[in-house]
Amino acid sequence: MRFDVLTLFPEMFPGYMSQSLLNKAIEGQLVDVQVHNLRDWATDKHQKIDDRPFGGGPGMILMVEPVVNSVRAVQKMAQPKGKIVMMTPSGRRLDQKFVEELAVEPRLILLCGRYEGFDQRVTDILHPIEVSIGDYILNGGEVAAMVMIDSLVRMVPGVLGDEQSSWDDSFSRGNRMLEYPQYTRPREFEGLEVPEILLSGNHGEIERWRKAKSLENTRLRRSDLIEE
Ligand code: ADE
Repeated sequence: MRFDVLTLFPEMFPGYMSQSLLNKAIEGQLVDVQVHNLRDWATDKHQKIDDRPFGGGPGMILMVEPVVNSVRAVQKMAQPKGKIVMMTPSGRRLDQKFVEELAVEPRLILLCGRYEGFDQRVTDILHPIEVSIGDYILNGGEVAAMVMIDSLVRMVPGVLGDEQSSWDDSFSRGNRMLEYPQYTRPREFEGLEVPEILLSGNHGEIERWRKAKSLENTRLRRSDLIEE
C-alpha cells in the first residue's frame, strides 16, 4: 500500500516513520510512504500557498491552485493514481469499519490542511474522501494523517506477522468488543495476583474467561458498542 502525504510540515513525518512496525513494513516493501511539501507547488516567488478569506474572518486559507496542482503532479508520479483523502474535522469519522474500507485501496493521497482550511474549490474539483479522526480540532491534518496511516498499515497483509492479524482484532469484522485483561510476570505485585485461571493451563477455560471479561469490559465502559 502506498501513501503520498501532502503537507506544509514534511519534517513532522520522519520520526513517526522510523517507529519499528512501520519502518519494517517500509523496508520489506509492503508499505511506501512518500511525503511531499505543498510549498513546492506555490505559484509565486514568495512560495505563498495561503491567503486571507474573501468576505473577511480570521486566519488564512490554503489556496486552490497550489493544492490542486500538487495533487495532480503527485498522482502522475506512480501508478495507480490513487484515491484522494482530505484530513478535515468535517469529514466522516474514522472508525475500524472505515479503516477496513480504506485498507483495500492500493494507494492513497493524503491532503493535510493547516490554518483555517482549504479553499472550497479544492473539494469541488478533486472530490476527496473527507476524513476526521474525531470531534475535536487539531492544529493541522498531519497528526490525523499519521493516525490514519497507523491504522491502515496494520491491515496490510504481512505487516503484523502470521500469528497476529489486525482483521481479527477486537474492533474488526463487526466484532465490536473491548479486549480482556492481560498479565505477564511477576505473578504477584503489591498484593495483586494474576487470576488463577490464567495459570491453570486449561485453554478451554481460559478462552471462556477471556470472552466473559471482554463482554464485561464492553458492558461497563462502552455499552454503546453492544447496542450497535
Ligand atoms: N484537521 C484538524 N482537525 C482534524 C480532525 N479532527 N480530523 C482530521 N483532520 C483534522
